[in-house]
Amino acid sequence: MDKMWAGRFEKALDKQADDFNSSIHFDCRMYRQDITGSMVHAAMLCRKGIITQEEYEDILGGLTGILEDIDSGKLSFDMDAEDIHMFVESELTKRIGDNGKKLHTARSRNDQVALDIRLYLRAECEEISGLILKLIEVIKDKADENKTAILPGYTHLQRAQPITFAHHLLAYAMMFKRDFERIGDAVKRMNYSPIGSCALAGTTYNTDREFEAEKLGFSGIMMNSIDGVSDRDFCVELLSAFSTVMMHLSRFSEEVVLWSSWEFKFVELDDSYTTGSSIMPQKKNPDMAELVRGKTGRVYGDLMALLTTLKGLPLAYNKDMQEDKESIFDAVDTVKMCLGVFTPMIATMNTLPDNMYAAAQKGFINATDLADYLVKKGMPFRTAYKHVGEIVSYCIKNNTVLEKLSIKEYKQFDELFDEDLYNEISLETCVEKRISAGGTGPQSVLAQIKYITEFLNDEKDIH
Ligand code: ARG
Repeated sequence: MDKMWAGRFEKALDKQADDFNSSIHFDCRMYRQDITGSMVHAAMLCRKGIITQEEYEDILGGLTGILEDIDSGKLSFDMDAEDIHMFVESELTKRIGDNGKKLHTARSRNDQVALDIRLYLRAECEEISGLILKLIEVIKDKADENKTAILPGYTHLQRAQPITFAHHLLAYAMMFKRDFERIGDAVKRMNYSPIGSCALAGTTYNTDREFEAEKLGFSGIMMNSIDGVSDRDFCVELLSAFSTVMMHLSRFSEEVVLWSSWEFKFVELDDSYTTGSSIMPQKKNPDMAELVRGKTGRVYGDLMALLTTLKGLPLAYNKDMQEDKESIFDAVDTVKMCLGVFTPMIATMNTLPDNMYAAAQKGFINATDLADYLVKKGMPFRTAYKHVGEIVSYCIKNNTVLEKLSIKEYKQFDELFDEDLYNEISLETCVEKRISAGGTGPQSVLAQIKYITEFLNDEKDIH
C-alpha cells in the first residue's frame, strides 16, 4: 500500500521496517475517538470557511459510515495501514474521493494522536472509576454485616489489639476512595484539548481550537502547541494512579490469601472464585486473589516503561511516543480485569466470625487494656506496662491467658488489681472502649460507614 507520505520518497519502506513502524494492531482500539475527533475537526474547518458545507457533509457522512461499519463488524482494520489515523483517512478517501483528502487540513497526526489518547483514557477512567465505586460499596456492605465480628488486628503480622472486621475492611474503603479521587484529579488535569497544535508550531489557518475543545467536552485548550503534542504527563499520572489501585488490591489479596488458609480460616471464598488442585483433592486455592496480586507487577512495569521512554525525549513529538499506548492499554485492561473479578470475590466471600474470635482470644491482644486498667487506677503507664509484661510472661510459662488468671494471682503482681479487671479486658470491652475518632469502637465504625455511604451517594448523584 502506498504511504500517505510517499511523495518525498523514491523507494518503498522495507517490509520489516514497515511492520516495526506500524501501530495499527494496537492503536486500532482508539477508532471511535479518532473518528469523533475527525468529525469535530471537519466541523471546525467548515465553520471557519476552510472547507465548504458540502465538503463537510460529505466528510461527516463518510466518517459516520466508517464508524458504523467498524462497530457492526462490516469493516475490519487493514493491518497494512500504518496506524489508526492513516487507516481512517484512507478509508474515507476510498469512500468519498477527493473531499476525504481535505480532512487533514490544519492538523497533524501528532495532535491527532495526543487527542485520541486523551479521549480514550477519559472514557476508560469513567469505567474504572465506576468499578472502584462498586468495590467500595461491596466493602461497605461487608463491613456493615461484620460490625460485631472481633478478630486480632496485627502489626508485624503479630497479634496486636482486638478490632472488628468491619473496621479492618473500612480501611480498604478509605484507600479505594482515595484511588477514585486520584483518578478524578488526573482526569481533570488531562482534560485540555491538544487538537489544533498541529505538528508542533500551530498552523497558518484561522482555526478555532476553543470550538473543538468545547465540542469534545474538554475544559479548555492546551495553551502551548509544543506542549500539546509532547505532553504525556497525564499517562504517567494515570499509570501511577492505576499502580496505586493495584497496590491496594494486592495488599487486600494478600490478606484474603492468608485469611482463607487453614492457619487463619477467617473467611471462606465462594466456590465460583476458587480453584482445585490437579493432584491434591483437599485443595481450594485462592487463585483469583493470587493473580490480582501477581498482575500488580505488570502495571508497575507499564508505569516504569513509560517513564523510561519519556525521560530522554527532546521536544516535540518523537516516534518513541508511540510506545505509550501499549503500556496504557495493558494497564487499563489489567485494572479493569482485576476489579471485575475482585469485587464479586469479596461480595461472595463468607466470613467466619467464630474463628476470628478464637484467634482474638490468643496472643494476649488485651495486654494494652490491662495496662490501661492500672493507669486508670493511678499507676504511671510505664510501670503498668512493665507489670503487664511480667504477667504475660507468667501466663506463657503456665500455659494460660490473662482472662483465666485468678484475682489471687493478679494480686501477687499488684494490689491495685480487682474483680472489675475481667470486664475491662474482655475482648468486647476492649473494642467498645476504643472510642477515639477513627478507632475500632462501634460509634466510630458506624461513623465510618456513614462517611462512605454519603460519599457513594454523592458520587451517584453526580454520575
Ligand atoms: N502512530 C503514531 C503514534 O502513536 C501517530 C503519530 C505519528 N506521527 C508522526 N509524526 N509520525 O505516536
